[in-house]
Amino acid sequence: MADTPSRRINIASIREKPSEPQPCSFIIFGATGHLTATKLLPALFHLESCGRIAKNMAITAFARREWSLDQWKAHVCDSLKDKISSQQHKAILKRFLKRFRYQQGNFDDLAAYRQLADNSQCESPCTQTVFYLAIKPTVFSTVIKNLELAGLNKPCGTSRIVVEKPFGRDLNSARALNQLLHQSFNEEQIYRIDHFLGKEMVQNLFVFRFANTLIESLWNRNYIDHVEITVAESTGVGNRADYYDQVGALRDMVQNHLLQLLAVVAMEPPCSLDADELRDEKVKVLRTIRPIHSNQIDEYSVRGQYTQGNMDGEQAVGYLQEKNVKKDSITETFAAVKFYIDNWRWSDVPFYLRTGKRLTQQSSMIAIRFKLPPQQLFRETLSQAIAPNWMLFSIQPEKSMKIEIHAKQPGLGMETRITQMDANFLKNNEQGLDAYETLLLDVIEGDRSLFIRFDEVEMAWQVIEPILKHWQKKATAIAIPTYPAGSWGPEDANQWFFNSQNQDWRNTS
Ligand code: BG6
Repeated sequence: MADTPSRRINIASIREKPSEPQPCSFIIFGATGHLTATKLLPALFHLESCGRIAKNMAITAFARREWSLDQWKAHVCDSLKDKISSQQHKAILKRFLKRFRYQQGNFDDLAAYRQLADNSQCESPCTQTVFYLAIKPTVFSTVIKNLELAGLNKPCGTSRIVVEKPFGRDLNSARALNQLLHQSFNEEQIYRIDHFLGKEMVQNLFVFRFANTLIESLWNRNYIDHVEITVAESTGVGNRADYYDQVGALRDMVQNHLLQLLAVVAMEPPCSLDADELRDEKVKVLRTIRPIHSNQIDEYSVRGQYTQGNMDGEQAVGYLQEKNVKKDSITETFAAVKFYIDNWRWSDVPFYLRTGKRLTQQSSMIAIRFKLPPQQLFRETLSQAIAPNWMLFSIQPEKSMKIEIHAKQPGLGMETRITQMDANFLKNNEQGLDAYETLLLDVIEGDRSLFIRFDEVEMAWQVIEPILKHWQKKATAIAIPTYPAGSWGPEDANQWFFNSQNQDWRNTS
């Protein structure tokens, strides 16, 4: 079945309201979990307030807790309390709460799935059903099998399944999960989510690159010295240690979010914004990432784990002291990797990627450093090198695009200074959408362009697996490097990691 045409085909109309929202039934597995409370409910509530979901769309919360519908609704209200500040919001909340049903059941309890199926019989047969797996990867297969046994994997076109990352924990397990999904669902029904692709600035990167002729001519090895992609988090592992301690930063962030950002920066212009055209171009990038030879991995990658430290004047505990973390855990909370993309556009341009928890600040940014002009006419003295141009895409918390260029300082001399051109795209009274709002709407409307195709998942695992294996091998022999909470990560991720003395992490936008 062909995809529904992408809402993005006409860039100007991305946020325009379509004539009538599509009827849909939305079922959340893992409804009482963290993801549902912090991302899914606020996103659905916002879509409700913009009138973007059908009047009769039912939302079913499927969870293990023995709650009544009223208890569930109280939980929804609690999760949304920060969003309700006016009478208008209260009225929207009242409407929103009417949509809910609560289905209690263990994930392995087939009877609960059958009950879900009976309830969905009451709806019109053409109603679209979305199953959102907001659950731990360890229970994916149980839920998928039971959906099939209960006949809920309706034919292509009328049911869709959303699978959260990480998709597998290595190449083999990702393939096994994909095979399992394909036993019950067709590819057109499967939505592998990477919420970074739904972030405003990431979508803006597509527009910035492919709707402007100005940029494209500079976007290559002739002008770009290197690319840095940073996703820094000031938060620690919080209450997710039972998941995170099994996974670590490389699997949790690099295999998916950071490699997707790299692919969007490096891809060739697609022939159209059709879902498969976009994904074809991203796959080509992932396929051309130069494999890191096993004896080069220590040169190309750095890992670390936070110890106690000072965060904004407050003491933060170390990773090993966090709740539910094994006392001898060697899970990395920081990862930095250097990649090369072996194609005509990017040959020999390093892409430096880093991510970590409990770093100095919360900041996700793509920083592109340009080469120096061939002749430094305006250098004041021989010892003073002119600063390079940068293009900075701040993804969060600030959403901005800035270009740093030289301009003449006012006055009689010819001294230059760096000026930041701020190409901020948000006007004063505008607010960006949360990634989940965009992506949930895409699922409901059947637009897969911002979802991951399996060959992207496969390629991404192939790229990082040698590093994972090397770190595992080293794990027993050498203690993991550490960094104090509130720093920019382990020392090893600094100077020697870069190819030249002129390169360093860009920490400010
Ligand atoms: C998730 C990771 O995918 O992304 C988390 O599992 C991480 O560990 C989160 O904190 C970051 O997302 P965001 O949108 O808050 O930057």
